[in-house]
Amino acid sequence: MADDDYLDAVDYTRDDLDVEDFEDVKHAVRLQDVHRTFKLGKKEIGAVIGVNLTIDAGEFVVISGKSGSGKTTLLNIIGAIDLATQGRVFVMDVPINDYDESFRSSFRLNNTGFIFQSYNLVSTLTAIENVMFPMQLYEKKQSELREEAMKLLEGVEMDHRADHLPWQLSSGEQQRIAIARATANDPPIILADEPTANLDGDSGQMIRDLLIELNKQGKAVIVMSHDERILNQPDIQHYKMELGVLTRHV
Ligand SMILES: Nc1ncnc2c1ncn2[C@@H]1O[C@H](COP(=O)(O)OP(=O)(O)OP(=O)(O)O)[C@@H](O)[C@H]1O
Ligand SMILES: [Mg+2]
Repeated sequence: MADDDYLDAVDYTRDDLDVEDFEDVKHAVRLQDVHRTFKLGKKEIGAVIGVNLTIDAGEFVVISGKSGSGKTTLLNIIGAIDLATQGRVFVMDVPINDYDESFRSSFRLNNTGFIFQSYNLVSTLTAIENVMFPMQLYEKKQSELREEAMKLLEGVEMDHRADHLPWQLSSGEQQRIAIARATANDPPIILADEPTANLDGDSGQMIRDLLIELNKQGKAVIVMSHDERILNQPDIQHYKMELGVLTRHV
């Protein structure tokens, strides 16, 4: 998703949502026979084919698979960034495919925190401004937002770099800011697309630890990754994606 798309997502207010109370939610994610087909001229590409998947609140799911197997496409569907061409998609029991883009924008801002392989920070905003960015929805005072954002930066040990622009930060630091931003609205679901792929050992470990910590806080964490150290975590549910088809890894 380009920076501009991210900016577009903030034009909606909380009033667009009628799903405030998630206490009775049965599943964080439920996919029923989900397909995503891309049309390129006369050719059709089945990027996601017949995926069924249920993820409960608080689960840690890792999906691995070769390049081009459909991981990012599936994650974008769960995150309401992309639409399935067939099948039903429930996030927090809400059938998100049935709503318009305005609702889905608000919905994803409140319910899903995205972490990308390439961090996707807004290049013209400082670290703390990037974290504050998704919070604008709440119509709080700037000083309050700043205070909240600073707490999130402390959580990822980046408060000392609050006023740095993305290019003034290392790769691992940018990813930590991206994690702080993903948690800005305290979403129940964290989606991460190869979050450690561009990082060296130490930075990667910190990101893994942060994802585990978010899961311990009760969030459902869904990670697309080949990272053996993520796959070797105890208590994860491991699935494999192959040519668009998802299977449980045993
Ligand atoms: N917008 C699009 N238009 C056409 N084809 C697409 C589009 N997005 C993805 N695809 C195709 O769908 C398939 C799945 O792509 P996807 O990006 O989901 O794979 P991936 O598993 O995330 O790969 P990687 O590990 O390289 O990130 C690929 O064959 C890709 O070329
Ligand atoms: Mg991908």
